[in-house]
Amino acid sequence: MRKKCKYPCGPGLALLAASIFLVTAHVTATPVKKFDLDRFIEPDTCGGCHWEIQEQWTHSMHNLSHKDPVYNRVAKFLRRGLVVAGEIEEAESCVKCHTPVGVITGFPEKLSDDLSKTPEIATQGIQCDYCHSAVDTTRMYNNGLVLAPGHGEDDPGVKQGPFDDSEPDFHEAAFSKLHQSSMICGTCHNVKHVAFGTDLETTYTEWENSPYNDPDPEKQVTCQGCHMYQRPGIPATGSTERPKNPGTAAEDSVERDHIFTHYFVGANTGVTGARDKQKMAEERLQNAAQISLNTQQLAKKQLDVMVLNSGAGHSIPTGVGDLRQVWLEISIRDAHQKLVFQSGFLDAKKELSDDTIIFRTVLGDGSGNRVVNLAKAKQVLSDTRIPAKQKVTQTIALDFIPEKGSVIVARLLYRGMPQKILNMIPGDPISPLPVVEMARVSQTL
Ligand code: HEC
Ligand code: HEC
Ligand code: HEC
Ligand code: HEC
Ligand code: HEC
Repeated sequence: MRKKCKYPCGPGLALLAASIFLVTAHVTATPVKKFDLDRFIEPDTCGGCHWEIQEQWTHSMHNLSHKDPVYNRVAKFLRRGLVVAGEIEEAESCVKCHTPVGVITGFPEKLSDDLSKTPEIATQGIQCDYCHSAVDTTRMYNNGLVLAPGHGEDDPGVKQGPFDDSEPDFHEAAFSKLHQSSMICGTCHNVKHVAFGTDLETTYTEWENSPYNDPDPEKQVTCQGCHMYQRPGIPATGSTERPKNPGTAAEDSVERDHIFTHYFVGANTGVTGARDKQKMAEERLQNAAQISLNTQQLAKKQLDVMVLNSGAGHSIPTGVGDLRQVWLEISIRDAHQKLVFQSGFLDAKKELSDDTIIFRTVLGDGSGNRVVNLAKAKQVLSDTRIPAKQKVTQTIALDFIPEKGSVIVARLLYRGMPQKILNMIPGDPISPLPVVEMARVSQTL
């Protein structure tokens, strides 16, 4: 898929490298240690009183962000064979979001550090004391959180949260507008290439431009408004109820009309390993989109399939949009159940053929050629994802007119990553990622 020598091989190299350094200096700052490690408190300690919240967060992708085997394998794969400074810098930058407590306390500083030496607390990913020490953001991409942590268990300091009347005795508490805003999520859920500035993930921007970002705070649905209302059986999407979750925030504390849940479930059904969390991700995916057919033009050998993003507060898919695969699987059987048309079926190698209708972003090298390695991405070549609340129509040209009694079935399917990319990753083969049916429609002619 990748051509040889896609990256500067000619005389332009020196010039390009120089300009990359310029941009580099502009977009990123080398991670610097800001705090001693012992200022952060283990999630287990917080869980002593907030055990329900801790249980929800355990095995979430936030808890697993450093250990996630898919992330780790992809990250190592990206770093191989890079020579251009800006590309290397990007490939080293992952730890800033995936191991944030490590970066802010001095180790690891970059991905190629010996990650086996990562302090135990930092291996626990995006955790309680990290988020609840946040007091500000410097930018809405590449993790611009500003922290004000306490001084460890003896002097835990102020934990920022949604209550303005909280008086716990272990730690101090303060009301934080930031925690009620999508911005606390958005600063990590927008990812830009550190040297080239390419938009690699734009979840926050997609939300910001969506109808969910209502100027009226009463009507606005923040990231938390969906993702921190979800619990088993209650997917809390844009197309389902988002009922309050009454209860207590800590053991023996006052009853509140809503306690924000901490499952942080997205679409990942493959990594968490905990069945209840996989099930919740399935429930989220199954309440994200609707699919419908228009058979009016069949006499002209044309079938229209419509997909509506009815439940996500951002595009479908979002996040690593160059890896995620949301696609249409379509079949037509004639009146005798004989298969006469199919598209988007996985082959024996779990791969999809090139003519499959896939909703995704494709990254390019700056000259219009596709790149798989995001460290080399200088442009977004195309973006066919479905924006929030929008409906897209895909027209399929048939080479026959389906007879009366034929059955058309269309399914919208999700998986985390193409098998082709999984296969490129060196080392033990990674088993195929699960496929989840997001929506389905069938019609008999
Ligand atoms: C990704 C950031 C993040 C992480 C990690 C996180 N929280 Fe929270 N937490 C929040 C936000 C944001 C809110 C408030 C949401 C709002 O007001 O919209 C919150 C709310 C709370 C509250 C107030 C009660 C409630 O749930 O409404 C407590 C207590 C709390 N978190 C404890 C914890 C503990 C304990 C952990 C670790 C097990 C943890 N949090 C992990 C972001 C986080
Ligand atoms: C000894 C018990 C205890 C421990 C340990 C503990 N908390 Fe709390 N925390 C409480 C109580 C009690 C409340 C008050 C709940 C309420 O007001 O409804 C609270 C409230 C909070 C709030 C809400 C603050 C607000 O104003 O909105 C946050 C956030 C929070 N804790 C985070 C943490 C974090 C992070 C840790 C670990 C570093 C932690 N807590 C450890 C008992 C504890
Ligand atoms: C410090 C950076 C950071 C902050 C702050 C943060 N996230 Fe995340 N989040 C991540 C990373 C990194 C991952 C992916 C981990 C992985 O898959 O290996 C992630 C994963 C997720 C997922 C799971 C995605 C999936 O595919 O299943 C959801 C949902 C999510 N975050 C929501 C939120 C919400 C809501 C907030 C704000 C309350 C938030 N995040 C704040 C960095 C962050
Ligand atoms: C209206 C409800 C809603 C809001 C608001 C919302 N989401 Fe989501 N989110 C969903 C649904 C439904 C899915 C599953 C479909 C999908 O993957 O897009 C999802 C999936 C995700 C995923 C996993 C994406 C993937 O395919 O790997 C992440 C990460 C995420 N959301 C983060 C966020 C962040 C950050 C915000 C705020 C900027 C946010 N969400 C706002 C409903 C919402
Ligand atoms: C600015 C914060 C940030 C940085 C820096 C970052 N990521 Fe992420 N990463 C995220 C968020 C947020 C998600 C969750 C989005 C989703 O689920 O689609 C994520 C998810 C992923 C996933 C999907 C994991 C899975 O289990 O499916 C991979 C792979 C990944 N990142 C690789 C990387 C690599 C490699 C780097 C460094 C080159 C990197 N990330 C740097 C924020 C970041």
